[in-house]
Amino acid sequence: MRLKVITSNPGKVEEYQRMFGDLGIEMEHARIPYDEIQTSELEEVVRKGMDALRSQGLKDFIIDDSGMFVDALKGFPGVYSAYVQKTVGNDGILTLMEGVEDRGAVFKCCIGCDIDGETIIVTGECPGVILKEGRGEKGFGYDPIFSHDGKRSFAEIGLEEKNSVSHRGDAVKLLRERLKALADL
Ligand code: IMP
Repeated sequence: MRLKVITSNPGKVEEYQRMFGDLGIEMEHARIPYDEIQTSELEEVVRKGMDALRSQGLKDFIIDDSGMFVDALKGFPGVYSAYVQKTVGNDGILTLMEGVEDRGAVFKCCIGCDIDGETIIVTGECPGVILKEGRGEKGFGYDPIFSHDGKRSFAEIGLEEKNSVSHRGDAVKLLRERLKALADL
């Protein structure tokens, strides 16, 4: 089975290949533009993205969308995470959180998979807190200001440890279970 990973980021294809290779699934990179609708739910973005790609005649593919949802900011930046990271960045979030006691946040990753005419949509989550200042050099995006254990930021732990607790790791686990169940049918 081959699945097209629809993304502008070729690094993601390699990651998926590593995580699903043992199930006999080959991942292939495809850069196909589609409209991303504006909504507050990742699942909705992914579901509508899948519909748009199917209406172009596409089959057997994966798309995903992730974001960081801060409790005290009513879920912001959420589906706007990429844009907010590019514009005001981590300093912008830290400024919004100045003097705020409730530091709770959750990273979410939604993966949509079209396979053999079936639609699978899974959402992985990683709860944590927004730190008072950025820490660490590893990772990307909001990693320096997010901590899953309240002590170390995602930018201070290694990728292997991050994958074992992260929203993306959780979503991949859920998708693997669904794909295995499908193969057993
Ligand atoms: P994407 O949908 O996976 O491209 O993620 C959208 C945006 O969410 C990224 O541009 C990052 O700003 C943020 N993001 C998603 N996952 C992570 C993560 O694991 N660490 C830090 N930031 C992330």
